[in-house]
Amino acid sequence: MIQRVGVIGCGLMGAGIAQVAAEAGCEVVVKEMDAAFLEKGLARIHGAWDRAMAKGKLDAAKAEALRKAVCGTTDYADLQACGLVIEAVPEVPELKLAAFAALEKALPPEAILCSNTSSLPIGSLAAPLSPSRLPRLAGLHFFNPVPAMPLVEIVKALPTSAETVAALKGFVTALGKTPIVAPDAPGFIVNRLLVPYLLDAARCREQGLASTEDIDAGMKLGCGHPMGPLLLCDFVGLDTMAHVAEVMFDAFGDPRFKCPTLVKQLVAAGRLGRKSGSGFYRWEGDKAVGVEAI
Ligand code: 3HC
Repeated sequence: MIQRVGVIGCGLMGAGIAQVAAEAGCEVVVKEMDAAFLEKGLARIHGAWDRAMAKGKLDAAKAEALRKAVCGTTDYADLQACGLVIEAVPEVPELKLAAFAALEKALPPEAILCSNTSSLPIGSLAAPLSPSRLPRLAGLHFFNPVPAMPLVEIVKALPTSAETVAALKGFVTALGKTPIVAPDAPGFIVNRLLVPYLLDAARCREQGLASTEDIDAGMKLGCGHPMGPLLLCDFVGLDTMAHVAEVMFDAFGDPRFKCPTLVKQLVAAGRLGRKSGSGFYRWEGDKAVGVEAI
């Protein structure tokens, strides 16, 4: 079992990954760009435990032990003792490649390196790594919100070894989540199916098929989905949706993956969904409080 885990980037996904790894009994080292980002990232993780305490789901002693299990750093050298490092920096290839170049230098050859990318091929992140590391490079794709979503995709790139996949299956299972092994193809398994569905919902809204409320009520109540597709677009982030759509459309050339003009317009207007307070819905913090006009 992997005991010490590094997480690069402590935004929404990185913080969630660090949180669930600590809850599974791992020691976690979180690396951020600078002290201000690190403080914000650690506050995100601690905030989740404060909310769990307020709900009576976590006692103070356990919360204190969890806080101690997560340490923060701005220096890659502090990740040296990690058996597994998960990169969760923004979906910008240059940022991810820089992280892997630094990890290659900082970590011993036996460490496993993973990316939480939702759209970039894992193979494209191999350039800064030595050829002997490639069997220990894989994707580890978590879903948002990480603490609540029970699936993790393990993405097997061409050189990823069977031992690495087995170690990652053990890690994901220890987190209390279900692993599935996906090929290194754009969107892996889940986004290959989910993204065209979400884009189609946005196209239906764009074409005036129905209101935002009715499209969402239709799929939520008619099909038993936990949330409607337009709410989920806002939840994921419309900028993220547009970016993933672009990568997948480039790869497949299939119009199902083409980003609807409406989504591009909302992004250009700064309506990114939950993260900006407005998208298809108006948001107050983590809650959608009403529908926005289109
Ligand atoms: N962060 C952390 N935990 C959260 C959370 C958040 N933002 N929102 C909810 N949770 C947790 C709650 O704490 C609760 O946990 P508990 O049972 O231990 O108390 C549990 O989730 C259920 O929450 P609630 O009862 O408050 O609310 P709901 O029952 O309405 O569930 C939801 C909220 C889990 C977000 C649910 O609506 C859902 O599953 N929505 C779909 C989410 C989804 O599809 N995610 C995948 C997005 S695609 C993706 O991530 C891939 C990427 O590559 C684009």
